[in-house]
Amino acid sequence: MNKPVFPSYQELLNEEAVSVPDALRLDTQPNIANDIIATDVWTDRGVFEKEVERLWPKVWQMVCRETALQKAGDYYVYDIARYSILLVRTESGELKGFHNSCLHRGRALKSGKGTSRELRCPYHGFCWHLDGSFKEAYCDWEFDQAQLAELTLPEVQVTTWGGWVLINMDLDAPPFEEYASVLTEHFQRWTPEDRYVSLHVEKKIACNWKIAMEAFIESYHAIQTHPQILSFTGGDNSQYDVFGDHLSRTITAQGIPNPGQADRYSVQESVEAMTGPGGFERAQELIGLDADTMTSRQAIGAVRREEFAAFLSPEMLATVTDAETMDSILYLVFPNFAPWGGFQSQITYRYRPDGMNPDGCIMDIYLLDGFAADQPRPADAKTIRLDYDQKYADAEGLGLLGALFDQDAGNLPEVQRGLMASKSRKAITASYQELRIRHFHETLAKYLATGD
Ligand code: FES
Ligand SMILES: [Fe+2]
Repeated sequence: MNKPVFPSYQELLNEEAVSVPDALRLDTQPNIANDIIATDVWTDRGVFEKEVERLWPKVWQMVCRETALQKAGDYYVYDIARYSILLVRTESGELKGFHNSCLHRGRALKSGKGTSRELRCPYHGFCWHLDGSFKEAYCDWEFDQAQLAELTLPEVQVTTWGGWVLINMDLDAPPFEEYASVLTEHFQRWTPEDRYVSLHVEKKIACNWKIAMEAFIESYHAIQTHPQILSFTGGDNSQYDVFGDHLSRTITAQGIPNPGQADRYSVQESVEAMTGPGGFERAQELIGLDADTMTSRQAIGAVRREEFAAFLSPEMLATVTDAETMDSILYLVFPNFAPWGGFQSQITYRYRPDGMNPDGCIMDIYLLDGFAADQPRPADAKTIRLDYDQKYADAEGLGLLGALFDQDAGNLPEVQRGLMASKSRKAITASYQELRIRHFHETLAKYLATGD
């Protein structure tokens, strides 16, 4: 079958009125061999255990927002598979991360988050300073003094990027900036560090963590799974990119109907699906074009820019492309941290196994929003936790996104079920639109092979 002709994402960018940032102009056209994927990678306990031993201790992982660790003594516990990492802001203002395990008889030192002047184990009271050096134990005559003096808590690497705290358990791993390729460069304009968390939902989903992640690195499923977004989502115009082993992205144009279904929708419908009722007329007032000449992306861009004036300076606003006001510019930092670029509500995802369960995962959705430079930073939203049987629509604040995420979350346990029931034990992928899936599995295979 020949591919029908419709504008590529780069061609849509040619319609921008201001200069397009290099990050968006980059079109890497990756060539990833179209290999079949064996279903074991999602269903086999042995693969999961290899990930626990060879993947999670080696990769950079997002833990929380830096705002959760502002003052000396603030701590935050990050749990993944069998690991637990305790993040602490020390007296000197440094961020440190320790394996969250008492060096006496192993109790977890902390859980959740809070503020503490020292790290005292709740079992027998062994105690550490915030910097991880040993402080004291009761009845210390019971112990070898030299042994006690050496009881420094083992550390992990900690860094920050975009207002996020990240860790790597491997002390020899390359720095995050190097690991994440062009990520820092690309986000220079979009500054997630200048945003606050307006919503955070953490939901358990009955599938392998990779099945959840994969549902958000391709736009191909939208036609069948999310028909309500076809009036304003150019899924077939999407661009897929790969930058080295650890970074990939999809850019999906918004504000235009999907090319395959375009004849079903008017410009006004596409615009108002994103702006709400009245958006089309507001755009005409703002840019002074009549209905015949104004494109839907121009119209939405104009309405969005008016909103963004609340937190972007006029100088910055003048450089903002329509693309950056609406498109889904979604990166994945291997293996499980997925931040959106652009100036709209920046959605950020993370996927973790639910403890040692290969068939259960925890998906985080954060929304990051801007605030005026002369205003105090708004407090981050409290985490909403949804269990396996709860729906996104139950989470207040997700609005229309709730129904959208429920469509995805409805597929995922059924994908797990079907993969386990597979007779062929194989999955095939679209050559272009699902190339990120294969890219992910190529990198994963490299990690899992190390040590054989
Ligand atoms: S296990 Fe921590 S003090 Fe005993
Ligand atoms: Fe989806």
